[in-house]
Amino acid sequence: MARHPLTELSSQDILTAPSILAADFARLGEDIAAVATAGADMIHVDIMDGHFVPNLSMGPPVVKAVRPVTDAPFDVHLMLTDPGPYIAPFVAAGADHITIHVESNGDLHAILAEIRATGCSAGITLRPGTPAAALLPYLGEVDMVLVMTVEPGFGGQSFMADQVPKIAEIRRQLDALGRPVHLQVDGGLNVETARTVVAAGANVLVAGSSVFRAPEGVAGALAALRAVDQA
Ligand code: DX5
Ligand code: ZN
Repeated sequence: MARHPLTELSSQDILTAPSILAADFARLGEDIAAVATAGADMIHVDIMDGHFVPNLSMGPPVVKAVRPVTDAPFDVHLMLTDPGPYIAPFVAAGADHITIHVESNGDLHAILAEIRATGCSAGITLRPGTPAAALLPYLGEVDMVLVMTVEPGFGGQSFMADQVPKIAEIRRQLDALGRPVHLQVDGGLNVETARTVVAAGANVLVAGSSVFRAPEGVAGALAALRAVDQA
């Protein structure tokens, strides 16, 4: 299957990234197909090691098993203390984009270079308590920055509004680069909170609970998210 890095998508568009952490794991393939059919721009895959965050999620075999379900890019968010050894396995499993945490161990410049050398796009992210300035050394090496609006580790948490100024600050830094970089937000997003982060300059919306548990269904939830920049 051809790779679809996020550099193929416009950072001028509002893009949706359903987080499969909120899917029904007993029917993971069907749930991914449903959001892909409903127009999800990418599939957000949360990887947790029980150390960087106090939770475990899934590994490369699960990603590989669901890879044939859709051509939509797999946006892999690594919440790992040591991401370095896991880049090649997730690329082999079918990742199109890999985001690492700035708080992770290892030579992050080398890891970002390794990700991009595979043909994937690369991203960097930070915990809510980490200042935007921590990302500055890496902005020239990434295709997407992810701002966490919950403490990473669990789906279904409440949006942290105190992170909105950080989104605006990073948007200004990315605009100054003179090259398109996506600005993604993850945690507690629904139509109301998504409106706030898009107003601050975000263009990629990760949403788990508000998409997979939407009473109106995943298609309605994704359409509403996609339209938050319209009046
Ligand atoms: C949290 C994950 C998020 C989470 C989002 O560690 O990175 O992607 O699944 O879930 P909701 O949208 O339910 O906050
Ligand atoms: Zn995530």
